[in-house]
Amino acid sequence: MDGPSGTGKSTVSRRLAAACGAAYLDTGAMYRAVTLAVLRSGLEGTDQAAEKVAVEAVNDLESVTDPSAPAIRLSGEDVESEIRGPAVTAAVSAVSAIPAVRAALVERQRALIAQALAERGGIVVEGRDIGSVVVPDAPLKVYLTASEEVRAARREAQDRKAGRIAEHAAVLADVRRRDQLDSTRKTSPLHAAPDALVLDTDHLSVDDVLRELLRLVEERGLVT
Ligand code: DC
Repeated sequence: MDGPSGTGKSTVSRRLAAACGAAYLDTGAMYRAVTLAVLRSGLEGTDQAAEKVAVEAVNDLESVTDPSAPAIRLSGEDVESEIRGPAVTAAVSAVSAIPAVRAALVERQRALIAQALAERGGIVVEGRDIGSVVVPDAPLKVYLTASEEVRAARREAQDRKAGRIAEHAAVLADVRRRDQLDSTRKTSPLHAAPDALVLDTDHLSVDDVLRELLRLVEERGLVT
């Protein structure tokens, strides 16, 4: 499941995994957690030295892929709440554009996927490059989109719910800035894989999207 932020990707992916008895992996959380390690070391995402710190932090990551209680830990510490804050959000595009960081995380993601397939028989993976790079032979690839305005409004609602102050103009500017950075970076820029099914969610609720995905999963014989 790929697409920009604010398309409902996380909610839909997690619910789809739960409905299918599959595991769930949020790869954005992994990029966010290594970005947190960079910031905690006193560096900025754009600093030269960020690469080494971020690549080393990959070894300290732990992703729990149970859709009923997904978690991300950095050296054993639960960092779920901190990685969603403004400091990490502002720096994550720069860190996720570093090729060595992507290579290390893609390797880790493939290992987690293999483990989930062996243990649970299936996994829903969300990110930006899952269908194009991480799992090019995935049996179902979905690319969720929505207009900038709708995505910014969703991000604001999410921030408010989590107790963070959200101001429309700032959220919209951040959505645009990240879209620009994520889709123009040299390594694995955000784009739909040629064989991905593109779903525009502007006028679709989470339930609508989920219904369509469950239909596709059944149509392709991915659940028994
Ligand atoms: O989905 P998210 O907003 O939590 O992702 C955070 C950032 O991580 C996003 O700006 C792009 C990057 N990312 C990526 O480059 N590749 C992925 N597979 C997932 C996220």
